[in-house]
Amino acid sequence: MMDVVLTERRQYYLEFFDWVHRNCHPDGCVRPLNYTVFEPRKAEQAFRHMSTGKHTGKLLIKLRDEEPDKQPLAMGAPVSPARDMMVTVKTYFDPNKSYIITGGLGGVGLELLPWMLYRGARKFVLTSRCGPKTNYQKFITGLFRQHFADYKYFASDMFISTANALTLEGTREMLREAERLGPIGGVFHLALVLNDSLAENMTPERFAETSDTKHRVFENLDQLTRGLGYKVDYFVVFSSVSAGKGNAGQCNYGYGNSRCERVCELRRRDGMHGLAVQYGPVGDVGVAADVDFSVGDITVQKQRIHSCLDVLDKLLAAKHPIVTSFLKKDLAKSFGTGTKKTRLVAELWRVMGVDPNTTPDRVTLGEIGLESMFGSEVQQEFEKTLNITVTINQIKSLTVGAFKEYESGRRDHIIKFLDERKRLRTHILRQKFTMPTEPWVWLNGHREGRAIYFMPTLVLNFSMVEEFAAKLDRPVIGLNWTREVSQLSTLDAVAKYYVEVLAGLERGNEGGYDVVGYLDTAHVCTKLLLKGMAGRAVIVDVMNADALYSEQSTDEFMIELMLKMISNEMPADIIGNIK
Ligand SMILES: NC(=O)c1ccc[n+]([C@@H]2O[C@H](COP(=O)([O-])OP(=O)(O)OC[C@H]3O[C@@H](n4cnc5c(N)ncnc54)[C@H](OP(=O)(O)O)[C@@H]3O)[C@@H](O)[C@H]2O)c1
Repeated sequence: MMDVVLTERRQYYLEFFDWVHRNCHPDGCVRPLNYTVFEPRKAEQAFRHMSTGKHTGKLLIKLRDEEPDKQPLAMGAPVSPARDMMVTVKTYFDPNKSYIITGGLGGVGLELLPWMLYRGARKFVLTSRCGPKTNYQKFITGLFRQHFADYKYFASDMFISTANALTLEGTREMLREAERLGPIGGVFHLALVLNDSLAENMTPERFAETSDTKHRVFENLDQLTRGLGYKVDYFVVFSSVSAGKGNAGQCNYGYGNSRCERVCELRRRDGMHGLAVQYGPVGDVGVAADVDFSVGDITVQKQRIHSCLDVLDKLLAAKHPIVTSFLKKDLAKSFGTGTKKTRLVAELWRVMGVDPNTTPDRVTLGEIGLESMFGSEVQQEFEKTLNITVTINQIKSLTVGAFKEYESGRRDHIIKFLDERKRLRTHILRQKFTMPTEPWVWLNGHREGRAIYFMPTLVLNFSMVEEFAAKLDRPVIGLNWTREVSQLSTLDAVAKYYVEVLAGLERGNEGGYDVVGYLDTAHVCTKLLLKGMAGRAVIVDVMNADALYSEQSTDEFMIELMLKMISNEMPADIIGNIK
């Protein structure tokens, strides 16, 4: 609140200063506020007293007695040791040194800067590939500059560098820019490019962009700061728990961070500062601000940015090269005392922003936009609990209704659905779906006698009738569905095409022939019969004889029939959706 007043009412300092001097004691001293003093061992009591809100003035904890006779220390005089006290560390930065924040215009960077400012840092180099581009970045950097100019106490230098630290030359340039402000006091490596993706969709370029932004920049900075002739006080990378614990889709990010962590270990070995802080997802700002997160096996909660920085205050003094800060989600609190299964589904609704009570049961997870990463979690869960291996796409085809059943303990539906999907997939994979180039093909070895012609099948080959054809003692010929037929746009045109093919094949043959047709090609058979070309036509279970000769055999009618036929292989849920 106070910082808003100070930012918006800059005159406030002056008015306050005047007021204090007009209202102070006649001898010019400002009278201290009322206070109540507590002994250190009564600190808890002091806090309790404060929380009641009944006190007036300040509450003080007296750490040591006044020392009115204290003199400046004479050379060689004995020094009385300080009293043993429990203390907590606090970080202060040197106002005369410069601090580099790579990726400083990012979400976390723009919060780190004021945090460092309030801890004494005054000279900053923020790096970015292209400088401020969003309105927010322009507004905040403008506000900082104004603040630096208006308040002498906070007077600071801020330089935005676009030097390319992926190269040694660019890094050298960045260090020169920092040294122009002052000796380098610290490096905070925050630059980040995320390219999250499961390995099957990852390209080498996207992998390298993410990992290089992390480790190449950090390694360049390490190499060149070692040659500065002085040690930098802080050499820090904002790493991630996904480096320590692994996270689906983030192998590039984890790898880049891990390499940075190795740099920190080497620096510690060499007696220099090096610190990798493995943060969990950060709330409020940055890349994770608008997404939900789980890392490896643990569900983590976002840590508010001010909390991340409070922790950093302590961690900067840590003796270890790699430390971590994340909030483990209290699952019991979030999802009651449910089983792992119900927790997973509850988490699914939460991650996808779905209210299962109002979302129609038939909507699929793919339609709502299930993320691949959460999908892989469901995949692992099904493997463990249902003993079934499924692809992410199969999970995306599951409906909200199916998940509700799974949540309530009924697993049969999901297992049946996934089994049917797998069966359909196997069936489809068996089909070749290659379009033949020849107009016809022999289906058995007989070359003499009255021929039987099979009209093309829906799957473009005759595998389903081959066995049957081999048993017949007459020539059996399959009429192919070629690219040429695909160009035809009506059933009549298709019928005309096959009538011509058959006329060509049977030219000069007096023995006659029979035809077998199904689906749309049944229409061709009726044409052949009507023209007196074919002797007999066998129509395989498509429609009743009346319909064959009626107006019903339109294109729409045939499409509907074909869908029905295809649907024989489909899980019931999907057919329901088509309807
Ligand atoms: N946010 C989180 O939840 C979270 C959690 C754990 C750890 N971390 C770590 O915290 C750090 C900051 O994260 P953030 O959320 O603030 O990310 P962010 O908002 O994406 O900011 C990162 C910035 O890095 C800059 N950048 C990318 N490539 C660069 C390069 N080659 N040189 C200089 N700058 C470059 C980008 O700015 P330009 O486009 O302008 O170049 C971007 O604004 C990251 O290192 C991240 O690993 C974050």
